Amino acid sequence: MAIVIERRDARTQSQGVEPGYGQTAKRWPSQPLQRRPQTASELAGPLRVERRLQPVRGDLAGYGAKRAIGQLIHLRARVVDEDGAPVRGAVVEVWHCNAAGKYIHPNDAHDAPADPNFYGAARLIAGDSGLVELRTIKPGAYPVPDAGGWWRPPHVHFSVWGRVWLSRLVTQMFFPGEPLNDSDAILNAIRDPEARSRCIARLVPADNYLVYEHQLVVRGRKSTPGMP
Ligand SMILES: [Fe+2]
Repeated sequence: MAIVIERRDARTQSQGVEPGYGQTAKRWPSQPLQRRPQTASELAGPLRVERRLQPVRGDLAGYGAKRAIGQLIHLRARVVDEDGAPVRGAVVEVWHCNAAGKYIHPNDAHDAPADPNFYGAARLIAGDSGLVELRTIKPGAYPVPDAGGWWRPPHVHFSVWGRVWLSRLVTQMFFPGEPLNDSDAILNAIRDPEARSRCIARLVPADNYLVYEHQLVVRGRKSTPGMP
């Protein structure tokens, strides 16, 4: 029996090039996307991505001699397909700024202090249940340069690779209850409110640290919207 994958609803995906945010024009195609089936030649490309991209530390809060500054959080992200089945072996790259809103990237010119005990990126491999876990601190908000007072809400960037290099989801996770979520041009480039809500993590009660759970749906009608 042929496997039928439901086509995405455009309203549940980012509209792509976002006016007022110059980088989206560089990162997104300006023309409508074309469907490109994965044929034998694509699927025969480099396989076993998880072997080629080795895991990199899964504890962003414990990079230095002391714990990083900020609210300690435990992030549980689950990679699933359109049926909710776990995608074992998916390579999940995670990056976010520190509690003051500063990235470790040298291009970040924001006037906020770096934290020597914080490293802002990790690479994790999804286990049998599709789960990746990360100990880190809650990222801060930061202003978008030359954007007229637009601040990005706290968010975590994700890049998820499937079995082959062509199979990749790049997206962002947001935190519940953040007032800046309502005005964020990247999040609100997704027109469907229900699809936007799928980009916001769920806070789970726990002692000692805040636990956030999130689901990354890599394909199908309910797939997680891609975001630059
Ligand atoms: Fe960011």
